[in-house]
Amino acid sequence: FSAFLTDTYQRQHDYLRISITEKCNLRCLYCMPEEGVPQSPAPDLLTTPEIYMLSSVFVNQGVTKIRLTGGEPTVRRDILPLMQQIGSLRSKGLRELCLTTNGVTLHRKLDGMVEAGLTGVNLSLDTLDPWQFQIMTRRKGFEAVMKSMNRILEMNKLGAGIKLKINCVVMRGINEREILPFVELGREQDIEVRFIEYMPFDGNKWSQGKMLSYQEMLDMIRAKYPTLRKVQDHKNDTSKTYEIPGFVGKMGFITSMTHNFCGTCNRLRITSDGNLKVCLFGNAEVSLRDILRKTNNGNPIDEAAFEAMKQIEMDRRQGLSTEPLGGTEHERELLDVIGLA
Ligand code: GTP
Ligand code: 5AD
Ligand code: SF4
Repeated sequence: FSAFLTDTYQRQHDYLRISITEKCNLRCLYCMPEEGVPQSPAPDLLTTPEIYMLSSVFVNQGVTKIRLTGGEPTVRRDILPLMQQIGSLRSKGLRELCLTTNGVTLHRKLDGMVEAGLTGVNLSLDTLDPWQFQIMTRRKGFEAVMKSMNRILEMNKLGAGIKLKINCVVMRGINEREILPFVELGREQDIEVRFIEYMPFDGNKWSQGKMLSYQEMLDMIRAKYPTLRKVQDHKNDTSKTYEIPGFVGKMGFITSMTHNFCGTCNRLRITSDGNLKVCLFGNAEVSLRDILRKTNNGNPIDEAAFEAMKQIEMDRRQGLSTEPLGGTEHERELLDVIGLA
């Protein structure tokens, strides 16, 4: 395994998240204000050839999983050719190509994506009720999301093998009554529903009171399904996985607010304007875009990889905090990364 991707805590960063746009076609209460978020000038954003080039640098170094995120990745017009290019890195060692999406327009592009090598979809969906959807996302689109989800399940019946997870952010007083219906979804369908503790974000009006903790969610589910039991998590999962005997699907809990999982973190992030972030605790970002653009005439791939390695290593040494997540300032840093990434 490449020393470049192994940090001083012996964590091996073989999972790369790339944000391919800052734009989104929804306005989820916990994520964006109604007016949207400020957009970077177009020339600052990575082009498709640049995203491909960076992906190939990292795959050559040992990255085996790439997740495209946003904003909402499907609003990027050329997402399909981009996925085809990244998908071609399978011959270089890429094993998983995933997407985190709200699913509103996914159904239109899904077949092409699967052909390009898509292996997993994390669908952001906080409610199974069309009205509630409109309240939580401030937009219409529930039926379209269902269409995308059903298309995935249909393709899986034909053997597509797309790993499907639902990300459900739980907010007290807003959608906690959706927890049990989401659990029920797993009775017949091979879906992993992950309940996410609501996290503070600049401007999302977070309050401790609106957060439902992992423990509370577990208690609520166990009251109805007493056979609920823990299953072994995969090595680098952000979530704690559970199952109910007899159910096809599983469920998980993403406990960023109450239990930190930094020790097993294996993620690297590239923002849509081309900054690399290794850790939420390292404030420093390295502009891979600038490196790439500077070395345009030489051998951009190797040059960029080499320069990035040096700089990342410096940032990494600032290290992994062993403090549990909890301080507000720290959490803002965390969301700065996750929210955008
Ligand atoms: P998998 O590949 O399925 O494990 O996806 P993922 O959970 O890494 O990514 P996804 O985009 O589905 O993100 C789901 C949630 O995980 C986000 O809302 C975050 O709350 C949380 N998350 C993802 N990565 C990190 C991380 O590095 N640190 C923390 N604290 N939370 C993260
Ligand atoms: N708290 C918890 N999860 C959030 N997400 C976005 N904002 C928040 C927040 N404030 C989740 C979305 C999406 C994932 C990438 O991040 O639901 O699934
Ligand atoms: Fe990884 Fe840093 Fe997130 Fe912890 S806080 S999970 S180390 S990126």
